[in-house]
Amino acid sequence: MKEISWRREKPPLFLAPMAGITDWAFRLLCQEQGCDAATTEMISAQGFLTAKKQKNTYQLLVRRAPFEKPLLVQLFGCDPQWMGEAAHVLSRMGRYAGIDINMGCPAKKVTGSGSGSRLMLDEGLAGRIISACVQNSLLPVSVKMRLGWDEEHENAVSIARIAEQEGAAFLTVHGRTTKQQYSGKADYEKIAAVCRAVRIPVVANGDVCDGESALRALNVTGCRGLAIGRAALGDPWVFARIRAALNGEASVQPDLHEHLQTARRHAAYMRAGHDERTALLEMRKFFAWYIKGVYGAAEIRAKITTAGTFDEVERLLTELEEKNKA
Ligand SMILES: Cc1cc2nc3c(=O)[nH]c(=O)nc-3n(C[C@H](O)[C@H](O)[C@H](O)COP(=O)(O)O)c2cc1C
Repeated sequence: MKEISWRREKPPLFLAPMAGITDWAFRLLCQEQGCDAATTEMISAQGFLTAKKQKNTYQLLVRRAPFEKPLLVQLFGCDPQWMGEAAHVLSRMGRYAGIDINMGCPAKKVTGSGSGSRLMLDEGLAGRIISACVQNSLLPVSVKMRLGWDEEHENAVSIARIAEQEGAAFLTVHGRTTKQQYSGKADYEKIAAVCRAVRIPVVANGDVCDGESALRALNVTGCRGLAIGRAALGDPWVFARIRAALNGEASVQPDLHEHLQTARRHAAYMRAGHDERTALLEMRKFFAWYIKGVYGAAEIRAKITTAGTFDEVERLLTELEEKNKA
């Protein structure tokens, strides 16, 4: 199984896990542009273990395409036994480079049941979950977290030390609290404190969107890698641009034609895994991201939202391209 390379001269660029987005199709497109490792969408440990064997949702979530670069499978849950058992099963599938524990999700439906970033409020339970995964997994276990629950509970350093003690291989830290959700700015100084507190690699996450922010995140935090999420939506080329900036090289912006060709390829991948209707529903948001900021995009986007077939979408994309040639 492919492993993550932590060379200091080439810090790995991760595609951050995003539910509803980072399936194998999107991961492949990002990897083509230089993303070095990725994570699946989050998967409920209990849901995965108790779902009927043929349940399509989980089959899709745990899928890994041939030739993918190192892939982590991300678990969420708040019961050490379920988490340990899921880590046991998934680590033996021969698909992944590691098991990632979600301690960062702020969504109420996840934290409400005690999972995701809610785990950071219970350090004892967080430790037992990490330990259960490490003890049961054949693969390295990592933890993805936030700075803490809110300003009064910023305990990322403490959770990081616990994770290291329990045998975690690396950490990813999103520089915001749960309460902040996605508001304000990711605080790289606070990620730096986590980097100083542990010897295992720390991946910095939050607001890395170009060469400049990537260099700032690396320099301020002293981290060993970067995780990029929202900046990759409709723009898998962000990885190539960041790598070029880290190498001190110039990069070329893809033109509209390349954007549309990538959107078409994305749709083809999606159609390979879903029926036409589902693929079309899934692709709507991606089409909107791929054409964002282009002259005439608002009108085409609205039409794509009501399009009933991929042929219709294709006509709309061609119309947009023609409009921009004129
Ligand atoms: C739509 C969406 C879905 C997300 N799903 C997950 C998830 O399943 N697991 C997880 O750990 N983080 C998830 N995140 C958080 C991202 O991995 C990342 O930590 C966050 O977006 C900050 O990074 P960015 O500024 O590069 O986007 C999600 C974020 C977004 C926007």
